[in-house]
Amino acid sequence: MPKIVLTGLRPTGKLHLGHYFGAAQTWLKIQNDYDFYMEIADIQALTDNFNNPDKVRVNVREVTIDLLSIGINPDKVHLYIQSMIPEIAELTVLYSNLVTMARLYRNPTVKTEIAQKKALFGNSGESVTYGFVGYPVSQAADITAFDGELVPVGEDQLPLIEQCREIVRKFNSIYGETLVEPEPLLSSTPRIKGLDGNDKMGKSLGNAIFLADNEATIAKKVMGAITDPQKIKKDDPANPDICMVYYYHKLIDSKNLDDICVECKKGERGCVACKKELIHNMMEFLKPIHEKRTYYEMHPEVVDEVLLNGTEEARKKAQEVMSKVRKNVKIDYFDD
Ligand code: TRP
Repeated sequence: MPKIVLTGLRPTGKLHLGHYFGAAQTWLKIQNDYDFYMEIADIQALTDNFNNPDKVRVNVREVTIDLLSIGINPDKVHLYIQSMIPEIAELTVLYSNLVTMARLYRNPTVKTEIAQKKALFGNSGESVTYGFVGYPVSQAADITAFDGELVPVGEDQLPLIEQCREIVRKFNSIYGETLVEPEPLLSSTPRIKGLDGNDKMGKSLGNAIFLADNEATIAKKVMGAITDPQKIKKDDPANPDICMVYYYHKLIDSKNLDDICVECKKGERGCVACKKELIHNMMEFLKPIHEKRTYYEMHPEVVDEVLLNGTEEARKKAQEVMSKVRKNVKIDYFDD
Protein backbone atom coordinates (compact mmCIF):
# COMPACT_ATOMS: atom_id res chain seq x y z
CA MET A 1 0.00 0.00 0.00
CA PRO A 2 1.37 3.45 -0.91
CA LYS A 3 1.77 5.82 2.00
CA ILE A 4 -0.84 8.49 2.60
CA VAL A 5 0.34 12.02 1.86
CA LEU A 6 -1.76 14.97 2.91
CA THR A 7 -1.44 18.64 2.20
CA GLY A 8 -3.71 21.66 2.41
CA LEU A 9 -4.01 25.09 0.86
CA ARG A 10 -5.91 28.12 2.08
CA PRO A 11 -8.12 29.41 -0.75
CA THR A 12 -7.43 33.10 -0.26
CA GLY A 13 -6.04 33.92 -3.70
CA LYS A 14 -4.83 32.49 -6.96
CA LEU A 15 -1.58 30.51 -6.89
CA HIS A 16 1.66 32.32 -7.72
CA LEU A 17 5.16 31.27 -8.71
CA GLY A 18 6.14 31.06 -5.03
CA HIS A 19 3.51 28.34 -4.54
CA TYR A 20 4.57 26.65 -7.74
CA PHE A 21 8.32 26.44 -7.13
CA GLY A 22 8.09 26.29 -3.34
CA ALA A 23 5.51 23.53 -3.03
CA ALA A 24 3.46 22.48 -6.05
CA GLN A 25 6.43 21.20 -8.02
CA THR A 26 7.03 18.63 -5.28
CA TRP A 27 3.36 17.60 -5.38
CA LEU A 28 3.59 17.06 -9.13
CA LYS A 29 6.69 14.94 -8.69
CA ILE A 30 5.18 12.66 -6.05
CA GLN A 31 1.52 12.51 -7.07
CA ASN A 32 1.88 9.12 -8.78
CA ASP A 33 3.72 7.48 -5.90
CA TYR A 34 1.38 8.05 -2.96
CA ASP A 35 -2.22 8.01 -1.89
CA PHE A 36 -2.48 11.80 -2.02
CA TYR A 37 -5.08 13.92 -0.18
CA MET A 38 -5.10 17.59 -1.17
CA GLU A 39 -7.38 19.73 0.92
CA ILE A 40 -8.80 23.08 -0.13
CA ALA A 41 -8.86 24.43 3.42
CA ASP A 42 -11.79 26.85 3.24
CA ILE A 43 -12.57 26.57 6.97
CA GLN A 44 -8.97 27.43 7.82
CA ALA A 45 -9.09 30.33 5.34
CA LEU A 46 -12.15 31.63 7.21
CA THR A 47 -10.22 31.78 10.51
CA ASP A 48 -8.81 35.10 9.39
CA ASN A 49 -11.23 35.87 6.56
CA PHE A 50 -14.52 35.18 8.37
CA ASN A 51 -15.79 38.63 7.41
CA ASN A 52 -15.05 38.02 3.74
CA PRO A 53 -16.80 34.77 2.78
CA ASP A 54 -17.07 35.74 -0.90
CA LYS A 55 -13.30 35.88 -1.20
CA VAL A 56 -12.94 32.35 0.17
CA ARG A 57 -15.78 30.99 -1.93
CA VAL A 58 -14.43 32.41 -5.20
CA ASN A 59 -10.93 31.19 -4.47
CA VAL A 60 -11.96 27.59 -3.79
CA ARG A 61 -12.59 27.41 -7.53
CA GLU A 62 -9.64 29.56 -8.58
CA VAL A 63 -7.20 27.42 -6.60
CA THR A 64 -8.72 24.23 -7.96
CA ILE A 65 -8.37 25.54 -11.51
CA ASP A 66 -4.75 26.50 -10.80
CA LEU A 67 -4.00 23.02 -9.46
CA LEU A 68 -5.57 21.29 -12.44
CA SER A 69 -3.84 23.67 -14.84
CA ILE A 70 -0.36 22.90 -13.52
CA GLY A 71 -1.04 19.19 -13.92
CA ILE A 72 -2.38 17.89 -10.62
CA ASN A 73 -4.13 14.72 -11.75
CA PRO A 74 -7.54 14.22 -10.12
CA ASP A 75 -7.34 10.51 -10.93
CA LYS A 76 -4.32 10.31 -8.64
CA VAL A 77 -5.07 12.97 -6.05
CA HIS A 78 -8.17 13.33 -3.88
CA LEU A 79 -8.89 17.03 -4.30
CA TYR A 80 -11.59 18.06 -1.83
CA ILE A 81 -13.21 20.89 0.09
CA GLN A 82 -12.56 20.93 3.84
CA SER A 83 -15.99 22.26 4.88
CA MET A 84 -17.71 19.37 3.11
CA ILE A 85 -16.03 16.86 5.46
CA PRO A 86 -17.81 17.47 8.78
CA GLU A 87 -15.71 14.74 10.44
CA ILE A 88 -12.79 17.22 10.46
CA ALA A 89 -14.86 19.61 12.58
CA GLU A 90 -15.88 16.78 14.93
CA LEU A 91 -12.29 15.75 15.44
CA THR A 92 -11.28 19.36 16.08
CA VAL A 93 -13.71 19.53 19.00
CA LEU A 94 -12.40 16.30 20.52
CA TYR A 95 -8.77 17.37 20.09
CA SER A 96 -9.39 20.77 21.66
CA ASN A 97 -9.55 19.07 25.07
CA LEU A 98 -6.03 17.76 24.62
CA VAL A 99 -4.28 21.08 24.00
CA THR A 100 -3.61 23.77 26.58
CA MET A 101 -3.99 27.45 25.78
CA ALA A 102 -0.37 27.98 26.86
CA ARG A 103 0.81 25.40 24.33
CA LEU A 104 -1.14 27.09 21.53
CA TYR A 105 0.27 30.52 22.34
CA ARG A 106 3.75 28.99 22.35
CA ASN A 107 3.39 27.57 18.83
CA PRO A 108 6.00 29.56 16.85
CA THR A 109 3.84 29.74 13.71
CA VAL A 110 0.86 31.09 15.65
CA LYS A 111 3.13 33.42 17.63
CA THR A 112 4.56 34.95 14.46
CA GLU A 113 1.14 35.32 12.89
CA ILE A 114 -0.29 36.96 16.02
CA ALA A 115 2.65 39.38 16.07
CA GLN A 116 1.93 40.25 12.42
CA LYS A 117 -1.74 40.85 13.22
CA LYS A 118 -0.88 43.08 16.17
CA ALA A 119 1.45 45.09 13.96
CA LEU A 120 -1.40 45.51 11.47
CA PHE A 121 -4.37 46.06 13.76
CA GLY A 122 -2.84 47.57 16.88
CA ASN A 123 -1.39 46.07 19.97
CA SER A 124 -4.46 45.20 22.04
CA GLY A 125 -4.64 41.63 20.84
CA GLU A 126 -8.43 42.02 20.72
CA SER A 127 -8.45 40.98 17.10
CA VAL A 128 -7.04 37.53 17.88
CA THR A 129 -9.91 35.08 17.93
CA TYR A 130 -10.35 31.70 19.58
CA GLY A 131 -10.68 30.13 16.14
CA PHE A 132 -7.44 31.63 14.95
CA VAL A 133 -5.37 30.64 17.98
CA GLY A 134 -6.87 27.18 17.67
CA TYR A 135 -6.17 26.60 14.01
CA PRO A 136 -3.27 24.20 14.72
CA VAL A 137 -5.86 21.95 16.39
CA SER A 138 -8.06 22.05 13.35
CA GLN A 139 -5.04 21.41 11.13
CA ALA A 140 -4.21 18.36 13.25
CA ALA A 141 -7.73 17.15 12.46
CA ASP A 142 -7.14 17.87 8.74
CA ILE A 143 -4.17 15.54 8.76
CA THR A 144 -5.37 12.76 11.05
CA ALA A 145 -8.88 12.50 9.59
CA PHE A 146 -7.27 10.78 6.61
CA ASP A 147 -4.52 8.87 8.46
CA GLY A 148 -2.01 11.24 6.85
CA GLU A 149 1.49 9.78 7.19
CA LEU A 150 3.54 12.36 5.31
CA VAL A 151 2.84 16.07 5.12
CA PRO A 152 4.82 18.07 2.51
CA VAL A 153 5.50 21.43 4.14
CA GLY A 154 7.84 24.39 4.21
CA GLU A 155 9.88 25.28 7.31
CA ASP A 156 7.23 27.71 8.56
CA GLN A 157 4.69 24.90 8.97
CA LEU A 158 6.92 22.54 10.96
CA PRO A 159 5.62 23.67 14.38
CA LEU A 160 2.11 22.77 13.23
CA ILE A 161 3.16 19.23 12.40
CA GLU A 162 4.92 18.95 15.74
CA GLN A 163 1.76 20.06 17.52
CA CYS A 164 -0.25 17.54 15.54
CA ARG A 165 2.14 14.78 16.58
CA GLU A 166 1.71 15.75 20.24
CA ILE A 167 -2.07 15.63 19.91
CA VAL A 168 -1.88 12.19 18.30
CA ARG A 169 0.36 10.81 21.06
CA LYS A 170 -1.86 12.22 23.78
CA PHE A 171 -5.01 10.93 22.11
CA ASN A 172 -3.55 7.45 21.64
CA SER A 173 -2.25 7.31 25.19
CA ILE A 174 -5.66 8.17 26.64
CA TYR A 175 -8.03 6.36 24.24
CA GLY A 176 -5.79 3.59 22.89
CA GLU A 177 -3.98 3.30 19.53
CA THR A 178 -6.31 5.13 17.14
CA LEU A 179 -4.58 7.86 15.17
CA VAL A 180 -1.60 7.83 12.82
CA GLU A 181 1.30 10.11 13.79
CA PRO A 182 2.35 12.08 10.69
CA GLU A 183 5.84 13.09 9.64
CA PRO A 184 6.81 16.22 7.75
CA LEU A 185 8.13 15.86 4.22
CA LEU A 186 10.35 18.94 4.10
CA SER A 187 10.49 20.72 0.77
CA SER A 188 13.99 20.81 -0.71
CA THR A 189 13.34 24.17 -2.39
CA PRO A 190 14.02 27.16 -0.23
CA ARG A 191 11.48 29.93 -0.07
CA ILE A 192 11.06 31.78 -3.39
CA LYS A 193 12.18 35.41 -3.39
CA GLY A 194 10.19 38.27 -4.90
CA LEU A 195 11.29 40.28 -7.95
CA ASP A 196 11.57 43.20 -5.54
CA GLY A 197 14.33 41.37 -3.67
CA ASN A 198 12.09 40.47 -0.71
CA ASP A 199 12.97 37.10 0.86
CA LYS A 200 9.49 35.84 0.16
CA MET A 201 6.98 36.05 -2.66
CA GLY A 202 3.53 36.70 -1.27
CA LYS A 203 0.20 38.13 -2.30
CA SER A 204 0.11 40.43 0.73
CA LEU A 205 3.67 41.58 -0.01
CA GLY A 206 2.46 42.83 -3.39
CA ASN A 207 5.31 41.09 -5.22
CA ALA A 208 3.58 37.95 -6.45
CA ILE A 209 3.57 36.74 -10.04
CA PHE A 210 0.39 34.73 -10.42
CA LEU A 211 0.22 31.68 -12.64
CA ALA A 212 -2.80 33.29 -14.29
CA ASP A 213 -1.10 36.66 -14.98
CA ASN A 214 -1.17 37.82 -18.61
CA GLU A 215 1.78 39.19 -20.54
CA ALA A 216 1.07 42.87 -19.85
CA THR A 217 0.90 42.22 -16.09
CA ILE A 218 4.04 40.12 -16.09
CA ALA A 219 5.90 42.70 -18.19
CA LYS A 220 5.03 45.41 -15.69
CA LYS A 221 6.22 43.31 -12.75
CA VAL A 222 9.44 42.17 -14.43
CA MET A 223 10.33 45.67 -15.67
CA GLY A 224 10.28 46.84 -12.03
CA ALA A 225 12.59 44.07 -10.82
CA ILE A 226 15.65 44.82 -8.71
CA THR A 227 18.99 44.41 -10.54
CA ASP A 228 22.60 45.00 -9.45
CA PRO A 229 22.44 48.59 -8.11
CA GLN A 230 26.09 49.19 -9.12
CA LYS A 231 25.17 48.83 -12.76
CA ILE A 232 24.26 52.22 -14.15
CA LYS A 233 24.90 52.01 -17.87
CA LYS A 234 23.79 49.29 -20.21
CA ASP A 235 27.35 48.05 -20.79
CA ASP A 236 28.58 48.18 -17.18
CA PRO A 237 29.65 44.74 -15.98
CA ALA A 238 27.38 43.48 -13.18
CA ASN A 239 26.92 40.73 -10.65
CA PRO A 240 24.08 38.37 -11.65
CA ASP A 241 24.10 36.77 -8.20
CA ILE A 242 22.48 39.83 -6.66
CA CYS A 243 20.09 40.42 -9.58
CA MET A 244 16.47 39.31 -9.27
CA VAL A 245 16.13 39.05 -13.05
CA TYR A 246 18.88 36.44 -13.15
CA TYR A 247 17.35 34.72 -10.12
CA TYR A 248 14.11 34.30 -12.10
CA HIS A 249 15.94 33.22 -15.25
CA LYS A 250 17.40 30.41 -13.10
CA LEU A 251 14.06 29.63 -11.48
CA ILE A 252 12.23 29.05 -14.75
CA ASP A 253 15.35 27.46 -16.22
CA SER A 254 15.83 29.85 -19.14
CA LYS A 255 17.54 27.98 -21.94
CA ASN A 256 20.68 30.11 -22.38
CA LEU A 257 21.39 30.47 -18.67
CA ASP A 258 25.18 30.26 -18.95
CA ASP A 259 25.29 32.93 -21.65
CA ILE A 260 23.08 35.21 -19.59
CA CYS A 261 25.47 34.93 -16.67
CA VAL A 262 28.66 35.41 -18.68
CA GLU A 263 27.27 38.31 -20.75
CA CYS A 264 26.01 40.06 -17.61
CA LYS A 265 29.41 39.77 -15.90
CA LYS A 266 31.20 41.10 -18.99
CA GLY A 267 28.83 44.04 -19.46
CA GLU A 268 27.56 42.65 -22.75
CA ARG A 269 23.93 42.43 -21.67
CA GLY A 270 21.72 45.39 -20.88
CA CYS A 271 19.13 45.01 -18.11
CA VAL A 272 16.20 46.04 -20.31
CA ALA A 273 17.02 43.40 -22.92
CA CYS A 274 17.57 40.86 -20.17
CA LYS A 275 14.18 41.66 -18.64
CA LYS A 276 12.46 41.42 -22.02
CA GLU A 277 13.98 37.99 -22.48
CA LEU A 278 12.73 36.98 -19.04
CA ILE A 279 9.20 38.15 -19.90
CA HIS A 280 9.31 36.10 -23.09
CA ASN A 281 10.62 32.99 -21.33
CA MET A 282 8.14 33.34 -18.51
CA MET A 283 5.25 33.51 -20.98
CA GLU A 284 6.60 30.37 -22.68
CA PHE A 285 6.77 28.66 -19.31
CA LEU A 286 3.22 29.70 -18.44
CA LYS A 287 1.71 28.96 -21.85
CA PRO A 288 0.61 25.36 -21.21
CA ILE A 289 -0.76 26.40 -17.81
CA HIS A 290 -2.74 29.26 -19.38
CA GLU A 291 -4.13 26.97 -22.06
CA LYS A 292 -5.43 24.56 -19.46
CA ARG A 293 -6.80 27.40 -17.35
CA THR A 294 -8.80 28.66 -20.33
CA TYR A 295 -10.21 25.16 -20.81
CA TYR A 296 -11.32 24.85 -17.17
CA GLU A 297 -12.74 28.37 -17.12
CA MET A 298 -14.88 27.39 -20.10
CA HIS A 299 -15.86 24.06 -18.50
CA PRO A 300 -16.81 24.81 -14.91
CA GLU A 301 -18.76 21.53 -14.83
CA VAL A 302 -15.47 19.62 -15.13
CA VAL A 303 -14.08 21.50 -12.12
CA ASP A 304 -17.28 20.77 -10.16
CA GLU A 305 -17.00 17.11 -10.99
CA VAL A 306 -13.40 16.94 -9.76
CA LEU A 307 -14.31 18.57 -6.45
CA LEU A 308 -17.44 16.47 -5.93
CA ASN A 309 -15.67 13.19 -6.69
CA GLY A 310 -12.60 14.08 -4.65
CA THR A 311 -14.75 15.13 -1.71
CA GLU A 312 -16.77 11.93 -1.86
CA GLU A 313 -13.61 9.78 -1.83
CA ALA A 314 -12.05 11.79 0.98
CA ARG A 315 -15.22 11.71 3.05
CA LYS A 316 -15.28 7.91 2.97
CA LYS A 317 -11.81 7.78 4.46
CA ALA A 318 -12.68 10.38 7.13
CA GLN A 319 -15.81 8.44 8.08
CA GLU A 320 -13.73 5.30 8.62
CA VAL A 321 -11.31 7.14 10.87
CA MET A 322 -14.16 8.87 12.70
CA SER A 323 -15.93 5.63 13.49
CA LYS A 324 -12.72 4.29 15.10
CA VAL A 325 -12.41 7.54 17.05
CA ARG A 326 -16.03 7.42 18.26
CA LYS A 327 -15.58 3.86 19.42
CA ASN A 328 -12.40 4.59 21.34
CA VAL A 329 -13.70 7.80 22.92
CA LYS A 330 -16.77 5.75 23.86
CA ILE A 331 -19.29 7.99 22.12
CA ASP A 332 -20.40 5.31 19.66
CA TYR A 333 -23.73 4.90 21.49
CA PHE A 334 -25.85 3.22 18.89
CA ASP A 335 -23.22 1.91 16.44
CA ASP A 336 -22.94 -1.85 16.38
N1 TRP B 1 -1.73 25.93 7.05
C1 TRP B 1 -1.43 25.62 5.69
C2 TRP B 1 -0.96 26.89 4.99
O1 TRP B 1 -1.27 27.97 5.43
C3 TRP B 1 -2.62 25.05 4.92
C4 TRP B 1 -3.13 23.76 5.48
C5 TRP B 1 -4.40 23.53 5.94
C6 TRP B 1 -2.42 22.55 5.60
N2 TRP B 1 -4.54 22.25 6.35
C7 TRP B 1 -3.34 21.59 6.17
C8 TRP B 1 -1.11 22.14 5.29
C9 TRP B 1 -2.94 20.30 6.44
C10 TRP B 1 -0.72 20.84 5.57
C11 TRP B 1 -1.64 19.93 6.16
O2 TRP B 1 -0.30 26.80 3.99
